[in-house]
Amino acid sequence: MNEKRIKKLQESLVQRSVDAILLSNPTSIFYLSGAKIEPFERMWLLLVPAKGESVLFANKLFVFEDTGIETVWHTDSDNAPELLCSYLNGFSVLGVDRDVPAKYLVPILHSYPKMDIEVSNALEDLRIVKDEEELELMRISSKINDEVIVEAFDRLRPGMTEKDLSAIIEDSYVAHGAQCPSFGTIVAFGANAADPHHEPDNTVFTGEGGVLIDMGCTYREYCSDMTRTCFYGRVTEKEKLVYNTVLEATEKAKTIIKPGVRFCDIDAAARNHIAEAGFGEYFTHRLGHCIGLMDHEPEDVGPVNEHPVREGMVFSIEPGIYVPGEVGVRIEDLVIVTKDGYESLNHVPRDLVVKKI
Ligand code: GLY
Ligand code: MN
Ligand code: MN
Repeated sequence: MNEKRIKKLQESLVQRSVDAILLSNPTSIFYLSGAKIEPFERMWLLLVPAKGESVLFANKLFVFEDTGIETVWHTDSDNAPELLCSYLNGFSVLGVDRDVPAKYLVPILHSYPKMDIEVSNALEDLRIVKDEEELELMRISSKINDEVIVEAFDRLRPGMTEKDLSAIIEDSYVAHGAQCPSFGTIVAFGANAADPHHEPDNTVFTGEGGVLIDMGCTYREYCSDMTRTCFYGRVTEKEKLVYNTVLEATEKAKTIIKPGVRFCDIDAAARNHIAEAGFGEYFTHRLGHCIGLMDHEPEDVGPVNEHPVREGMVFSIEPGIYVPGEVGVRIEDLVIVTKDGYESLNHVPRDLVVKKI
C-alpha cells in the first residue's frame, strides 16, 4: 500500500465532504494498493473512507502479495454485492469512480436509498500529478521508447511490411527492458499515414516515401508514447511543407507550457498555426492527452478543456496533418510540466530527415 497517496486521497475526501470513495478502476486500485489484478467480471474494489482504514474486496481466485490493506475475501458462492453493501453502513455521502459497474451501484442504491452517491474525481485528481518516483519511471519508459524507435527506422528495408516493422518494434521492447507495448504500435507507409489510427497491414515498403511510427511501451507499469515521421529516399515539396508546419506547431504549443496555462490554450497555439498554414481541416484530433499508468488518462489537451496545467502533470503534444490519399505527418512527444516550463521526455531529433538506405 502507498500510505502517502491514501492519506492525500483522504485529505481530499474531507475537503470535498465525501465520507468514503469506492474505487473500481484496477489501475487506480494498483496506484493505491500496489496490487495489480485483471478481475474480469469478479468483484475487485477498494473502499477508502475519509477517516479510518481502507478495505479491499477480492475474490479468493486472485493471487497477489499482501498489500497491508485489510482484505475482505469472497468466493464465487458468495453474494458479492450484498457483502459490499454490509461495509457501507454509516456513510451519508459516498463517492464512486466513473467505472463502478451498475451491478454494484444498483444494490447500493436499493440498500441505502438516503445515501448521497456522487461520481468523484478525487482519485483522478491525485493521479494526474505525478510524484518524483512516477516521473523517474516515466523517464525510463520514454528513454526505452527513444532507443527502440531509432533502431526501428534504421532496420526498415524495402520488402518489409508494416506488420513486419511493428513486430520488430514490439519484440525490441522486451530486449530493452520494457514489459510490453502500451498500445497497438502504429506503422504507416506513404498515404496510409493519413489515417491517424492506421492499423499496420501488409503494405510493403518500397524503399521510398514517408513512414510514420507511433509507439509506446510500459516500464514498471508506466507508459510512454511518441510519434516520428521520417522520409526515405526523397521528399516532395508538399510533404516538406506539411512536415515543417507540424513541427512548428509542436514548438508553438511547447513554448507556452507552464503551470497555470490552460490546456485549451496549448491546443490553440498548435491548432492556430496549422490553420494559418491552410491545413486546419486536416488536423482532426485533440493536441494531446495525459498519460501515466494508462496510455490515455484524463485530461485532454484539447479545445474545450479550460483547466490549467499543474507542475508534475505529464501529457503528449501530438499535432498532425492528414491529407487523405496523399500524406500524413504526426510528431509526438511527452512533456512534464515543471515549475516554470516543461521537460521533454523524448529526445529523438524532430527535424525533417530524408534517410538513405
Ligand atoms: N497512440 C495514440 C496516441 O498517440 O494517442
Ligand atoms: Mn502516440
Ligand atoms: Mn498519444
